[in-house]
Amino acid sequence: MKKWEVQDSVKNAFLNPAAAFALGAFCGLAIGMLCMPFSKGIVIGSYNGSNNKGIPRRRGLYYRCRSIRIIRKEEFVMNKALRKAIIAGNWKMNKNRKEAAELINALKPIAADKTCGVIICVPFTNLETALSLTEGTNIEVGAENVHFEKSGAFTGEISADMLTEMGVKYVIVGHSERRQYFGETDETVNKRTTAAIEAGMTVILCVGETLAERELGITEEVVAKQVKVALHGLTADQVKNIVIAYEPVWAIGTGKTATAEQAEEVCAFIRATVASLYDQAIANGMTIQYGGSMNEKNCAELLAKENIDGGLIGGASLVAEKFGVLLAEASK
Ligand code: 13P
Repeated sequence: MKKWEVQDSVKNAFLNPAAAFALGAFCGLAIGMLCMPFSKGIVIGSYNGSNNKGIPRRRGLYYRCRSIRIIRKEEFVMNKALRKAIIAGNWKMNKNRKEAAELINALKPIAADKTCGVIICVPFTNLETALSLTEGTNIEVGAENVHFEKSGAFTGEISADMLTEMGVKYVIVGHSERRQYFGETDETVNKRTTAAIEAGMTVILCVGETLAERELGITEEVVAKQVKVALHGLTADQVKNIVIAYEPVWAIGTGKTATAEQAEEVCAFIRATVASLYDQAIANGMTIQYGGSMNEKNCAELLAKENIDGGLIGGASLVAEKFGVLLAEASK
């Protein structure tokens, strides 16, 4: 074949639609294969990535080639079932030692076969009783507050080391009642959280907006600030020991629960905030609870939501049978 004949046949190939299509497909495939090492690959099935609210958004067959990143398995999984559901009781300023012992003894057989995490956060005066009565059971014991200094002239305060020395592994920090009545600020919440984490404890960090803030439409701003300031300075590894409890102030002790949709929306937002501070894998692994008039009647709907991994329970944690219903629901 002469040179001009070869040139002619290439030219004809461009003019012939079928040949042009075949050539285009070939070039596309070649470019695709060259890009493969830099892409997230082809995913068949469902990719549970999230939008900025942490809600799964991608399904089906697609091809991602946005940036050079190593695939991390966790990025493709946002499965509630992989997170630990935790039901924590916050006894607040209730129960003397005798009453505490009665409640724990009633709770032990009820909690025994439950697979969710079970924590009771009790007044300081009940810690000793709770620790000894729950020894060898699946019930964990937490405190309701902790100070950020190790020791010193801080009348009425308890340090993280004092708690861990007793064997207390959990502590609630930043409860709205501490913020409302005892001048707790985002900054002191951060200091208390940091001190407890550095002492090896797991923190149940409470955040939530007031009714006025919700009505002003600034729930997300308020909650984002609370989360960001509270976690400031904590490493990704340290954040693995934090549970966040979303407790809208207007729902606490009022009998007025957030709807499951309202609670889910803010819990998903909190997860997205954590993802923006750390990464999606840390956010996906974090237990996020709802708290605020959660009880044996409304728990099923709340706990069924994708981003609600348990509850921080006030009133209903003071009655073993009621608390048991919550434990059963979270263990499903
Ligand atoms: P209630 O369940 O009594 O509304 O209290 C919620 C709470 O504050 C848990 O920390």
